[in-house]
Amino acid sequence: MRIRTVVFPVAGLGTRFLPATKVLAKEMLPLLDRPLIQYAVDEALDAGCDTLVFVTNRYKHAIADYFDKAYELEAKLEASGKHELLASIQDILPKGVRTVFVTQPEALGLGHAVLCARPVVGDQPFAVMLADDMIWNRGHGALRQMIEVAEHEHASVIAVEDVPADQTQRYGIVSSEVVSERLSRVRGLIEKPRPEDAPSTLAVVGRYLLDASIFDHLETTRVGAGGEIQLTDGIAALLKVKPVFAYRFQGRRFDCGNRLGMVQATMHLAIEDAELHGPIVALMREHLSRE
Ligand code: UTP
Repeated sequence: MRIRTVVFPVAGLGTRFLPATKVLAKEMLPLLDRPLIQYAVDEALDAGCDTLVFVTNRYKHAIADYFDKAYELEAKLEASGKHELLASIQDILPKGVRTVFVTQPEALGLGHAVLCARPVVGDQPFAVMLADDMIWNRGHGALRQMIEVAEHEHASVIAVEDVPADQTQRYGIVSSEVVSERLSRVRGLIEKPRPEDAPSTLAVVGRYLLDASIFDHLETTRVGAGGEIQLTDGIAALLKVKPVFAYRFQGRRFDCGNRLGMVQATMHLAIEDAELHGPIVALMREHLSRE
């Protein structure tokens, strides 16, 4: 079982970042100098994936343009001897990696967006990555860790992390049986439960490795929480017939789907950056001394 195809659902409306997302895809918002989608793509490449499927809507040309060649810009950078900048736009995708763009005609939910990728994915196991969950790790990325688990267990794997009890309403929450320190077997899944209804505080985050039979379940999944076709409901149906594991990845996740997470991720990356570290720490000190 070799997972080579990743689906990036990027057709959401991104309303939490309006007005910026009126014209700019949420996934193109930058963390320092790279768009969110680039962090997810790099994690997929680190995991050995070579087919990147973007589920977009008709307003998101910028994502396709970003991964395309920019002839005029390349020629200008070449002529002015800006080789480092030139490399930064030429090396976005290594040779041999292909991109496929699929349209989700209407934003009917994440489950529906994944279903739109069915003709490209076929019957092989595949990954789904949500770019707005940016996962930072010094070692291998979360997706690569998950692929190792999936290959070992020959099963679907979803990424989870513990969230504060009062935040269960923002996530899909699993009930599971512990297998080892980081791994458990999923027994049930419920989308956005109130804290009093949540079976645990183990929340599903934006990385999934799925058996292709999920598509059959998504075909029959009805509209769920928030009036959308939920991927979690499809997985809940899948786990009744095939094993699904929950994996607590190593790394730090930033929820860049909202303003606070975006700022936290930016600060984190700035602190980790050799050039920005000093000025950012100085700015933080200055503010803290005034508190
Ligand atoms: P979100 O729940 O974050 O929704 O989607 P959103 O529309 O992007 O943002 P808000 O809540 O309005 O601010 C999670 C992921 O699923 C994709 C989004 O692009 C995002 O990556 N998605 C969601 C789709 O591709 N299609 C949909 O119909 C819904």
